[in-house]
Amino acid sequence: MTEPIPPRAPRLNMKPDEDVGPPVVQITNLWTKFGRTVVHQDLSLEIYAGEILSIVGGSGTGKTVLLRQMLGLETPTRGCVRVFGEDISEADAQQLQRMRNHWGMLFQQGALYSALTVFDNIAQPMRELRALPEDVIHDAVLLKMNMVGLGAEHANKMPSDLSGGMIKRASLARALALEPQLLFLDEPTAGLDPDLSDAFVALIQSLHRELGLTVVMVTHDLDTLFALSTRIAVLAEKHVIALGPTRDVLKVDHPFIKQFFLGARGLRALEVLDEQQHAAGNKAEN
Ligand SMILES: Nc1ncnc2c1ncn2[C@@H]1O[C@H](COP(=O)(O)OP(=O)(O)OP(=O)(O)O)[C@@H](O)[C@H]1O
Ligand SMILES: [Mg+2]
Repeated sequence: MTEPIPPRAPRLNMKPDEDVGPPVVQITNLWTKFGRTVVHQDLSLEIYAGEILSIVGGSGTGKTVLLRQMLGLETPTRGCVRVFGEDISEADAQQLQRMRNHWGMLFQQGALYSALTVFDNIAQPMRELRALPEDVIHDAVLLKMNMVGLGAEHANKMPSDLSGGMIKRASLARALALEPQLLFLDEPTAGLDPDLSDAFVALIQSLHRELGLTVVMVTHDLDTLFALSTRIAVLAEKHVIALGPTRDVLKVDHPFIKQFFLGARGLRALEVLDEQQHAAGNKAEN
């Protein structure tokens, strides 16, 4: 006998304030099962142009799997994932390649090719297109390196010679290689010390502003989360239980939300957010 599915209305489901047009990513009634383990159960989520949408949830709640499903690297058991309006599971190889040219991904583990130099790692997505002459690629790689604050002197280094922060920057430069509209970040600041982490946050902020990117990010780091997110999606009980701006999500009465956000670290991060908003308000007044 199959168990009845309890009603799964989210406790909070807020769209962005402005009129934002059609969703860039639309996940509808998605299920993921590995054997008998159900990871996602009837999960829906819409992400709009220009957002920095952060996904949070306990370890093993299926955040990385969800990102991989958005990238077409994994297929959900049931349900639909549309990116740029196209159903990923129905896309043929050519369509998928075309979509890949419009998004960039920074994987949880950095994921540079260890046998390639920094330069060749960043050049690789451009070379795969087989349409750009090598001198154009050369200039574009140096431009991307400059954009992420990696000096040209690092171009010929191997990944094993880079610090953690530099690996993140090089991976980000590679994710930006094809000038994507959509950027996926899985734990972009994990393992960075606080200074590097702040620098990385500032970098994402300025890229978001300058390139008008839509960003989908997974992070456990509250400072990163509060500094960057335009909306937060909370993954618990196998689906999105809350979706909205930070302040509204914090008010949702759910044990995971209380434990995740409102511990001592969370309160401190919130204070910093308040200070930043206050400072920004003062600046706008002057
Ligand atoms: N290919 C697979 N086969 C079987 N189980 C899998 C597979 N991929 C993921 N899982 C399981 O699915 C669950 C969700 O994994 P996922 O990596 O998405 O978690 P996560 O939310 O990203 O966790 P973390 O915060 O630790 O990175 C885990 O229990 C994991 O063991
Ligand atoms: Mg993960």
